[in-house]
Amino acid sequence: MPQPQPRFACQQCGALAPKWAGRCEACGGWNSMVEELQRAVPPKGLVPVSSRRGNRGIDFVALRGETAGPPRRLTGIAELDRVCGGGLVAGSTILVGGDPGIGKSTLVLQAAASLAARGGAAAYITGEEAIDQIRLRAERLGVADTPVRLAAASSVRDILAALDGAQAAEFVVIDSIQTMYLDTLDSAPGTVSQVRGAAQELIGLAKRRGLVVVLVGHVTKEGLIAGPRVLEHMVDTVLYFEGERGHQFRILRAVKNRFGATDEIGVFEMSDRGLVEVPNPSALFLADRAGADAESGEEGGGKITGAAVFAGIEGTRPLLVEVQALVAPAPLGTPRRAVVGWDATRLAMIIAVLDARCGLSVGANDIYLNIAGGLRIVEPAADLAVAAALVSALTDTPVPGDTVVFGEIGLSGRVRPVAHAEARLKEAAKLGFTEAWVPVRPSRSAKASSGDGLAPVPISHLSELVALLSPPPGRRIQPAGTRRLAAAP
Ligand code: TYD
Ligand code: MG
Repeated sequence: MPQPQPRFACQQCGALAPKWAGRCEACGGWNSMVEELQRAVPPKGLVPVSSRRGNRGIDFVALRGETAGPPRRLTGIAELDRVCGGGLVAGSTILVGGDPGIGKSTLVLQAAASLAARGGAAAYITGEEAIDQIRLRAERLGVADTPVRLAAASSVRDILAALDGAQAAEFVVIDSIQTMYLDTLDSAPGTVSQVRGAAQELIGLAKRRGLVVVLVGHVTKEGLIAGPRVLEHMVDTVLYFEGERGHQFRILRAVKNRFGATDEIGVFEMSDRGLVEVPNPSALFLADRAGADAESGEEGGGKITGAAVFAGIEGTRPLLVEVQALVAPAPLGTPRRAVVGWDATRLAMIIAVLDARCGLSVGANDIYLNIAGGLRIVEPAADLAVAAALVSALTDTPVPGDTVVFGEIGLSGRVRPVAHAEARLKEAAKLGFTEAWVPVRPSRSAKASSGDGLAPVPISHLSELVALLSPPPGRRIQPAGTRRLAAAP
């Protein structure tokens, strides 16, 4: 009988190599090659694929056929259902990824309990925690009396045996996929081939039995779901659970969904009794703002500078957040840049445009940019709000408190229109904003928005924004260079 052949798999990108190396040739990752034994012969009872004996072939069918829309099951957690595209689809697999400790287990337990409370058959299989720990959590969440079936197991073979039977559950949580193992593979649980193999079997189970399988996956330091991106290709839906550690908000983001739109987000607030849905996130993200304005009112009526409210869209839902910037003279040669919640490259671009097209000297300063509330924004539509926050910080002139800002900035300094302007304005009007700094509309809908009691201030070039935020008469903008010279004796 042939010996099992050793091979080495990169734990970051999944590349295979016949011998060990300190650095993966495919992705350049250091120390990521791990030996995985691969049997040269197929498992008992299977003939090699290349042999003709026993192969049945496949049937081809027409593109059009009798296919009803996928039946969906609601968990009863509205934010989760919406992120999944309007409920969970039978026969699909959902990957819930996120940093350790972010709240994945809490979320999936709440989902299982809510589904069970509505009469669904839910099962929760943990490979990470003990039964008692889950029971304690269920107690704390107030869901201990829901008919969720709980098990501690990590052998995929046992799990399949239990769930492939007639009395299978409809909704199965596997927490986490990194702890599951297939005894037909020789590598340790958590390695690429184990994660891939175990997921493959569980996905097969979901399809075969029409179950909804939820796989919980930890994200590694590099931000990849361990057993790398390979899982993302295999499952139907990929949800990331994210949030800043110090904040109480958690955001569930769909990055892939075969049964719905991506970019959809669900917002939750952490509490001692578990995750609470936030149906109106804009109000929540701007909640601190009202307080800050009031406080600053005491010190000579000054408003906070370096802050602008961005009217964004996350998926299908408008979301208002505050962009905060701090511009300070750089004491050392190379100015510092720190960005939280936004793309650092995009910030560099906006700084360059402000310097080159508007005659400001932003780039020479230390710059800190923060999206309030721990949210991460990916839309280029935030460009104008970021620019407004930066210019406001530089010129020490506040953006009016009742103003929202959005628009994309081109390298020429021109402000370009963005999608869903109507929805953004509507949300802003709903929250009591009265003015909007927006790109010039190219089309007929230019006045449609003013009906909301919101006055749009069209901005076609970044220099117009700078003019809006120029300092009051008697005060001059001091570029970093002159300020530093003035400070010297
Ligand atoms: P947990 O769900 O175990 O995170 P993960 O499965 O992603 O590793 O949650 C981590 C900790 O946070 C846990 O001790 C419970 C606590 N927690 C709350 O107290 N309230 C909450 O709403 C959430 C989500 C978590
Ligand atoms: Mg967990």
